[in-house]
Amino acid sequence: MRVQNHQTFAGKARRRLAACAAFLAVVVGGGVVSAAPAVALTAPATAVPATANPLPSADPIGNPASFSVLVNKSRPLNPASYAPNDLINARGSGQYMRAEAAAWLNGLFQGAADAGTGGLSIVSGYRSYEQQQQVYSYYVSIYGQAYADTISARPGYSEHQTGLAMDIGNAAGNCGLSTCFGDTAAGQWVAANAHKYGFIVRYPNGYTATTGYSYEPWHLRYVGVDLATDMNRRGFATLEQYFAGNTAAAASIKSGADLVAADASGRLLRYPATAVGGYANAVQIGSGWTGLKQAFVVDWDIDGVYDILAQWNNGVLGVYRGLPGGGFAGQVVVGNGGWDRMTITVGKWTHADGRPGVVGYFPDGVLRYYPNTFGGALSAPQFIGTGWNGMELTIADWEGDGANDILARTATGSLINYRGDGWAGFYGPATTVGTGWQYMRVLVPSFGLTGAGTRGITAQTVDGNLYNYGLGRGQWTTYSQVGYGWNSLSLFR
Ligand code: DAL
Ligand code: ZN
Repeated sequence: MRVQNHQTFAGKARRRLAACAAFLAVVVGGGVVSAAPAVALTAPATAVPATANPLPSADPIGNPASFSVLVNKSRPLNPASYAPNDLINARGSGQYMRAEAAAWLNGLFQGAADAGTGGLSIVSGYRSYEQQQQVYSYYVSIYGQAYADTISARPGYSEHQTGLAMDIGNAAGNCGLSTCFGDTAAGQWVAANAHKYGFIVRYPNGYTATTGYSYEPWHLRYVGVDLATDMNRRGFATLEQYFAGNTAAAASIKSGADLVAADASGRLLRYPATAVGGYANAVQIGSGWTGLKQAFVVDWDIDGVYDILAQWNNGVLGVYRGLPGGGFAGQVVVGNGGWDRMTITVGKWTHADGRPGVVGYFPDGVLRYYPNTFGGALSAPQFIGTGWNGMELTIADWEGDGANDILARTATGSLINYRGDGWAGFYGPATTVGTGWQYMRVLVPSFGLTGAGTRGITAQTVDGNLYNYGLGRGQWTTYSQVGYGWNSLSLFR
């Protein structure tokens, strides 16, 4: 049993990859499917709450050079003297930022101007440890230390030292470093649109207890479009909350990028995601996991710790609640009898539900949605379609619009996107998004495998290879082989 990152593959493995790429002709855009199962069509969603991602976030990043680094009062830069090596003069202002962040800042400024807000101006960007020392000392000298700590970071603890932060203001110059900036047209446009350019308002109003700082509508932090969009889609206001899975760092399953599997002897194994988009060697986190039809990694009770939903061959559907300190609580039966005959997928299927539920069908092909109303037993099903016989189902947000969809794999290997409307129904025509998927045994949604905020599908082929397909907004993005020799493992989805 070996896993290896594709970048280090020898020629033999590369040939396998090429052969597989040939049969996995991915259809981008796709055509309308003629033999689609009947689905109930309802009106499209009007609001897009944060229900897309069924799983909590990846671990926070400690590397100060990472665009997703988490820096706050309890997480100083490491080393404290860190200085980026790709700073550039942002918009010729004399304030500096890392090159990628500065490039996206240009787009943000253009967007704000085009929107008729009157435009933005640059106030303060990169500050070295020594410069932050001066800024902090200045505030201490005029306000005292207690108040200074609510508006200024100590040296070694400021996002400005990462080269990823920029304080901005109105082009007109009013409301500079003042909360009234948030009430201006420019400030409101920035709050609503910064994520499209990879920025977040890092210290939002009402989150002082979380961030440690007063409201700063002017302080933008570059985190990259994937992460910023993921935060927006899922409704996380702060990086602290986005990375809250970290408070369960001792839990058995730590990240939406990890793979969990049972081997033939029933050992429960976690394969930690690596920083380079692959999987490290297994850690055993349980035993006795034989007799499964399928299992799912999911935060069933939305407490920020991953749980396991087990679909047993004896017909029981049970949840094993993950414990923050590691291990799992005993099984809670959430569905009793007949679940061995169901083909299911798990995720947040409607905007109304805060918790991931179950969508599936018996051999009758009638698609049922079972809400998870209380984080325990499932509620009575709603019938949401017919003719789904023979499909393998995976809940994923194909369009990236905040409403989950069902990716259905047909017996002949087509992968079809049935677009969810966010209200338990479907919306618009189904589209084929891939062919050749009959060679895939299990599809596992992954979160953060190729960087914080990224989404994808990790697929195990019938001959034991693993591939990861990045999910963009309505298209596939990255594609790489992330393992081989996984034949004997039953992957949890
Ligand atoms: N004003 C922010 C918190 C800083 O000093 O980095
Ligand atoms: Zn700032």
